[in-house]
Amino acid sequence: MATLMVGEHGKWPAKSDPIFMIAGKAAEAKEKYGADKVINSTLGALMEDDGSLVAFDSVYSTLKNLDNAEIAAYAPIQGTKEFLEAAEENCFGKYRPDAYIRAVATPGGTGGVKQAVWNYTNPGDSILTTNWYWSPYNTITEEIDRGVETFDIFDEDGNYNLKGLKEKSSDLLEKQKRLLLVLNTPAHNPTGYSVSDDEWDQIIGFLKEKAENKENKITVLVDAAYIEFAGEKDERKKFFKKFTNLPDNLFIIVAFSTSKSHTMYGLRSGAVIGISSNEEIVEEFYYACLHTARANWSNGTRGAMATVAKITNDDQLRNQYEEEKSKYKKLLRKRAEAFVEEAEKVGLDILPYRDGFFVSIPCEDPQGASQKLMEENIFVVPLQKGLRFAICAVSEEKCKTAPEKIKKVLDK
Ligand SMILES: Cc1ncc(COP(=O)(O)O)c(C=O)c1O
Repeated sequence: MATLMVGEHGKWPAKSDPIFMIAGKAAEAKEKYGADKVINSTLGALMEDDGSLVAFDSVYSTLKNLDNAEIAAYAPIQGTKEFLEAAEENCFGKYRPDAYIRAVATPGGTGGVKQAVWNYTNPGDSILTTNWYWSPYNTITEEIDRGVETFDIFDEDGNYNLKGLKEKSSDLLEKQKRLLLVLNTPAHNPTGYSVSDDEWDQIIGFLKEKAENKENKITVLVDAAYIEFAGEKDERKKFFKKFTNLPDNLFIIVAFSTSKSHTMYGLRSGAVIGISSNEEIVEEFYYACLHTARANWSNGTRGAMATVAKITNDDQLRNQYEEEKSKYKKLLRKRAEAFVEEAEKVGLDILPYRDGFFVSIPCEDPQGASQKLMEENIFVVPLQKGLRFAICAVSEEKCKTAPEKIKKVLDK
C-alpha cells in the first residue's frame, strides 16, 4: 500500500455521494426499460414531467444577453451592490425586518451555511438542528471540528417539537454559552415541513428569554433554500418581520440561495444576510464573512449576480420570471397533493408535508428499503430514518402511483 499523503484533518472515508450514485442507477434503468417504467425521485432539482431539468427562460435569456466582460469579470468579494440589494429584496419580499441588515455573496446556500458555521461557532461546539436534516450540515461541521446535535422534528402527535427544540437549545447554551440553531424552513429538506408563524413566535419568545443571560450568544441560521416554492404567494415570508427589535445577543442569519429560486443550481450564487438591532453586530458579521469568502472561494459568479439583479430591477423580466416561477410552484403543489392524497389512501406513513421539493417516508432499514425499491425501478434516497421522495423530479402521474408501490415494498 502506498504511503498516503493527505494531512490528518483531510482524512475521510472514501465514499462517493450516495444521491448521485442512485441517480446514476436510475439513469441506467431508464435506458434499459424506458422512461415510463422508471420513477427517478432522487435529485433535489425541479424537473419537467419528462425528467428534463427546468431552466427558466427569463433567467437564461438574461444571462446569455450579458456582455462577455460582465460574465468574465471578477465580482467584488462581498458581491456586486446591485446583486446584494436584489438578494435582500428577493429574500424578504414585503417582510423586510426593521433592523440593521448586511449581506455578503456566497456560492449558493452551501456557502451561507459554511459562513454561519465557521463564524458563529467555536472549535468543538455543536450546532443544533432537527433530526431529519440535509446531510451537508454534517460534512460542513465535521470538516472544521464542529458537531451536529439534533432534536426530534416532530413529537409523538406529529406536531413540530418545540419542546425538544427548547430543551436541546438550553442544554447547548449551558455547555457552550453559544448556540447556532439551524432551521431549514420553509419547505424543509427532507420532510417538506414549514415552521408556522405561531411556532416562530414561540421560538423567538424562548430565545429572547435565553438571551436575557448576556453571556449567551445565540444565532439562528434560517436556511431558506426552498422559500420561493413555499406557500401561497409570499405568505411564507411573513416570519421575517419578526426579526425586528431582537436583543443584541440574538443574531439572525439567512442563507439565501438562487439555486432553486432561479433554477441556477450550477451557477453557484447566493448570499448570507445578517440581521440585528445593533449596527456593530452586523458590521462585525460583514467583515467576518468577507474574510471567510476571501479565504475559501474569493468571490462569486459575476454573471449570475448580474442576471439576478437585472431580473429584479426590470419590470418586464421580473413579470416573466414571476410567471415562470408561479407555473412551476403550481406544478409542484399538484405533484405533492397527488402523492400525499394517495399515501393517505393506501396507508403509507409519511411525515407532515407543507411545502417544497420532498416528502419523507419513515421506515426501518432505509438502505434495504431503497435497494428493494430499486428492483421495482423506483429510485429514492435512503436517509438515516427513512426515505426521501423528490416530488420535484417526478410527474404528477407517477406521484400518484408511487405511494402504493412503495407501501407494497415496505410491507414485504
Ligand atoms: C437544505 C438545503 N440547504 C441549502 C441548500 C443549498 O444549495 P446550494 O448551495 O446549491 O444553493 C440545499 C440544496 O440542496 C438544501 O437542500
